[in-house]
Amino acid sequence: MTTRVAELAAGPAIELWLAFPPSPAPGALEVAAADPFAVFDAMREAGIADVRRVGVLCTTPEHVTAARRAGAGAVVAVGDAHELAAAGADAAVDSGGLEQLVAERYGPEGSQRRLVLLNPGPGLTSDAVKRAAGGADICHRELEYRTLDRRIRAKLRRLAGVHEHWPIALLSGSGTAANEAALRAAVRPGRQLLVVVNGVYGERLRETARRAGIDTISIEGPWTEPIDVSQVAAAFAPGVDALALVHHETTTGLLNPVAELARVAARADTRTVVDAISSFGVEEIALDDGIDFLTCSSNKCLHGLAGASFVLVSPAGSRRARSVEPSSATLDLCAYLDADATAAPPFTPALPALAALDVALDRALAEGVSGRRARYAERCAIFDAAIERAGLEQLVAAPARSHSIRSVRLPGGISFAVLHEHLRALGFVVYAGQGELASEIFRIACMGELEPSDLERFAAALETVLAELQA
Ligand SMILES: Cc1ncc(COP(=O)(O)O)c(C=O)c1O
Repeated sequence: MTTRVAELAAGPAIELWLAFPPSPAPGALEVAAADPFAVFDAMREAGIADVRRVGVLCTTPEHVTAARRAGAGAVVAVGDAHELAAAGADAAVDSGGLEQLVAERYGPEGSQRRLVLLNPGPGLTSDAVKRAAGGADICHRELEYRTLDRRIRAKLRRLAGVHEHWPIALLSGSGTAANEAALRAAVRPGRQLLVVVNGVYGERLRETARRAGIDTISIEGPWTEPIDVSQVAAAFAPGVDALALVHHETTTGLLNPVAELARVAARADTRTVVDAISSFGVEEIALDDGIDFLTCSSNKCLHGLAGASFVLVSPAGSRRARSVEPSSATLDLCAYLDADATAAPPFTPALPALAALDVALDRALAEGVSGRRARYAERCAIFDAAIERAGLEQLVAAPARSHSIRSVRLPGGISFAVLHEHLRALGFVVYAGQGELASEIFRIACMGELEPSDLERFAAALETVLAELQA
């Protein structure tokens, strides 16, 4: 297989380049016919298990279609740039520019280098999701957008298990925007917000509310334990209008008892805002247990691209929002809720992120929340075994751990920066601790389109790196 194409820069993104005849690079490893199955056959013969690690060089639109259908990780067209790019190639060059393009994009330092992201979102996304973002241009005041908008809302409601009477605010912005819009709408003037704080994101809810001019009180708890429900229950007083809490504290991978807290708040006739940014789509959440505003973003457990976020609002939450004079023009929750009926967003939405979310939700719905949770549990079992084998200590006790994040104490004498750098060199991105935990822990998350083999390779890489650093 000493062919010119096989010698084109190969790296973690693309391990092998194939070409349809007539090959644009002389002596290339050629695929027999313009047929997706021919790509699979050639790749199997070459010992590559994952078609996303295969790049295909094409000279005709039929080749481009066949390579795309096979799911090749890269489809590079050589020849008439216009015709071939229109057929769906990732790039089109003339034969003189081929080697340079491949090196720049797919080589070890290339822009398409595939790092295995083990940070808690944004995670790896499927090719279908990425392609959706690069699809047809649409205008947000035309039928195509209205169809997309309505489809996304219907899919979100199905995933959440709620009916049409739960309106959705679909925002363009990160999860923090959804949190701020929800908090601003949940508390009437002259009343108070009670915030649960046992991690960085609880702190952020409190700070967001304060900066929005909301009178805020908080209940604090240790960062490694679920909040004590009786402590929160005791804090309800007549002036408290809403409770805000983080379901899954991404700071540590800790789950708070969302159902119990929402029920306590409902008994006190208080609206509940739940930041489910790192839990919705995977963890169990019964929205009709008393949750009124549930916030989430597109790029964590939903496996979409970053840029979209949303708030699911109960009928009682909706009535509350309508009774509060908007305190922000851009984060006025009701303006976004109005669009639930009209599919006419108040501002230009992040169209690529929404198109990608639409496709990501298909996969989430096909798997179902419990199915995805089971898949994440298998991934976390690989993490847990690797952590134990390495003799490392987890920060959060097993019963309180989520299905997506593990917080691990750094071994003595090894800083996060050094561990990160060594693992990154092997193709894995791990995440630092936050706040007071910054110098004590590292975090690994299994959100996104990961394969068990990615995690097994990570487990082996962790062992190798620790052995090197501890030698
Ligand atoms: C629980 C939680 N809340 C809020 C946020 C903030 O989300 P974003 O960075 O999308 O604004 C995050 C991000 O990691 C999170 O995990």
